[in-house]
Amino acid sequence: MSAPRQNWQSKLGFILAASGSAIGLGNIVFFSSNAYQYGGGAFYLPYFIALFLLGMPMMMVEFGMGTITHQSLPLALRRLAGKRGEYLGWWAIASALFITMYYVAILGWALGMMLGALGSLFEPGIAAPFTPIQEPTAAPNATVYFFNMISTWNPLIYIVVIWLANLFILRQGTKTIEAAVRIFVPLMWAFMIILVIRGITLEGGMDGVLYLFTPDLGGISQPGVWKGAFSQMFFSLSLGLGTMTAYASYLPKDADQVNNSMLVSFLNCSFEYLAGVAIFSLLFVFALNPAGTTLSLSFFVIPQGINELSSLPWVVRLFGFGFYLLVVLAGLTSSISLIEAPASALIDKFRISRGRALAIIAIPSVIGSCLFALPRIIDPGLSGDGTLGLTLLDITDHWVFNYSLLAVGLFEAIIAGWVFGADKLRAALNQHAKVKLGKWFEYLVKYVIPLVLLLVIVFSLIAEWPELYGSSYDMPGYGWLASFIPVFWIFFTLIFAYVLTRRQTREI
Ligand code: TRP
Repeated sequence: MSAPRQNWQSKLGFILAASGSAIGLGNIVFFSSNAYQYGGGAFYLPYFIALFLLGMPMMMVEFGMGTITHQSLPLALRRLAGKRGEYLGWWAIASALFITMYYVAILGWALGMMLGALGSLFEPGIAAPFTPIQEPTAAPNATVYFFNMISTWNPLIYIVVIWLANLFILRQGTKTIEAAVRIFVPLMWAFMIILVIRGITLEGGMDGVLYLFTPDLGGISQPGVWKGAFSQMFFSLSLGLGTMTAYASYLPKDADQVNNSMLVSFLNCSFEYLAGVAIFSLLFVFALNPAGTTLSLSFFVIPQGINELSSLPWVVRLFGFGFYLLVVLAGLTSSISLIEAPASALIDKFRISRGRALAIIAIPSVIGSCLFALPRIIDPGLSGDGTLGLTLLDITDHWVFNYSLLAVGLFEAIIAGWVFGADKLRAALNQHAKVKLGKWFEYLVKYVIPLVLLLVIVFSLIAEWPELYGSSYDMPGYGWLASFIPVFWIFFTLIFAYVLTRRQTREI
């Protein structure tokens, strides 16, 4: 026997938790580098189209499934669509596990940089064991600091600390989640607002804002921009991995999910653009060039800008510490939701205790996260990612980020729209909604969303062709990783979903 299903203590608690899930590394780390890569002003039109066409309606679908069934994703989909549905649900859960593993690893590095802000991150004389940067630097250099850090075993400690923090927050479910987000979410907004004010009051800071907002209609003719905007939107709104359904399943049946989806999307996208303003003003003032991988912006370029904010070392340290604390807080409120999705799925299916579910998830996942921090240098010339851990992370992220979420979203829309019925879903959502959804919602879920997602997936696959991602990196002895990782990811996901769907569901 198990305890009755838990509930959020208040609507505010749910909104804080769901927006805390949405606001995370995606809003700070990935958004800015995507927006920059796709040309600032060319990005926001596709971005807002992605928000209204795809993001918000899919959030209504995911929230709706949670409150209609009061189950986390696999069993929710089983109610709506039978075994096929459940299979998709476990597929999403497997992807959530992959993402959690590297998400926590990135958070571990952010924690390392946060400590570095108090240590030697902003001091000259750092070296790292890679060919181009072996000499001690004449000025503080965040890139060298970062590579030095990941070529040691220290990040393993940071990763374990982040994992323990996650498990601590999740230990009593909604009760402890709510307690954490009540403190963390307002705090991260406060930090972000301070950063924005500092950024735009710097001389020349507004140039960055202009770059972000001046429309560039030429750029939107490239398919890459659209693909970038759609994947970014899915990730940023925490869609496609069952987290929103798990959170929504703890709400009473009469929750207004239309309103909740609009509110959470609005909070998320406002935060994202605020982060963009803060980061782009810094980039433009100090003429920094964020070229390179997604991570380079937050780990190399921003600290370089912070270093130039003031000639007073303590101000620099304070801002550096504050920035990475912000990343860690925003990331923690997201990683707990990533872990809650599989935890609630196991609890719902097997009626096991929360502690047991968390242990089953954490033991393999902590090991997985640690793999992403393996310090072995496999690319000393830094033509790719340098260490084994970073290379594993980069290639895994490429596949899971670009395909898992969108593929799950595609099938979710098909199940919600065609198997369960878009009309039934709309009626259920409208029953408790102040603003009613029109017939357009059904067209979006049945036709537009599946078609758009399918196109994005097909275009991305074509763009991969013919070279497998990562195979151009110069990593003697490790070239096989480029093909091993996607194959492992696909087989693991398929088998995991098969095995868990076949297992008997324990009824109460
Ligand atoms: N949305 C979070 C971010 O922007 C990450 C995240 C949490 C997520 N849960 C998710 C992404 C579920 C995809 C799916 O950082």
